[in-house]
Amino acid sequence: MSASHWDAAYQRHGAGAVSWFEQSPEMSLRLIEACGLARDAAMVDVGGGASRLTLGLLERGFSRLTVLDVSATALALAREPCGASAERVTWVTGDARDWQPTTAFALWHDRAVFHFLTEAADRARYLAILRASLRPGGFVVMATFAPDGPERCSGLPVQRYDAAMLGDLLGAPFALRDALRHAHHTPGGAVQNFTYARFQRIE
Ligand SMILES: C[S@@+](CC[C@H](N)C(=O)[O-])C[C@H]1O[C@@H](n2cnc3c(N)ncnc32)[C@H](O)[C@@H]1O
Repeated sequence: MSASHWDAAYQRHGAGAVSWFEQSPEMSLRLIEACGLARDAAMVDVGGGASRLTLGLLERGFSRLTVLDVSATALALAREPCGASAERVTWVTGDARDWQPTTAFALWHDRAVFHFLTEAADRARYLAILRASLRPGGFVVMATFAPDGPERCSGLPVQRYDAAMLGDLLGAPFALRDALRHAHHTPGGAVQNFTYARFQRIE
């Protein structure tokens, strides 16, 4: 989970050839739009990497975006397609297990990051930060490998989930609003089954 591991992965492959690359993050955008949030709602993409999600959200008019990633290389790649609009995004190089956000977010998005936390203590630290920074009524959109998805990614082991398992970890303050499966087609031609889940904080 070190920054150097991820920097090297992006340097080796480039943004468009890593196995998790999506030309357009349609599932994430669909679930984020389903939250019905105002265009100035504060949103964070945790472990956003070089994803085009930020570009997609900017194109839809969302204006208070934060992207956190442990890899500065990934964030530099993510900025490129955003052009001048990148200046309106808060880019944070940091670790989801120990950053200290000062914003109360209305949306927490994570695609393919939480599933790398295979140690219970790491999951607990991540979830404590999530709970501390998500405002009441806010949403969590989480995408992980599904129970029949890959056991490893980028040379690292992962924990696989369905929506109920994610709900159990988030706990009682969160209500499941959507649960979907998605077959991700990697640039190399493999198919990876994902769980997408949308939760709302109700307490
Ligand atoms: C599989 S990629 C997914 C990237 C992006 N969410 C996407 O869908 O394209 C995992 C990302 O999580 C980042 N990452 C891994 N561990 C992290 C951590 N503990 N804190 C923050 N980012 C992390 C990596 O640098 C990488 O960009």
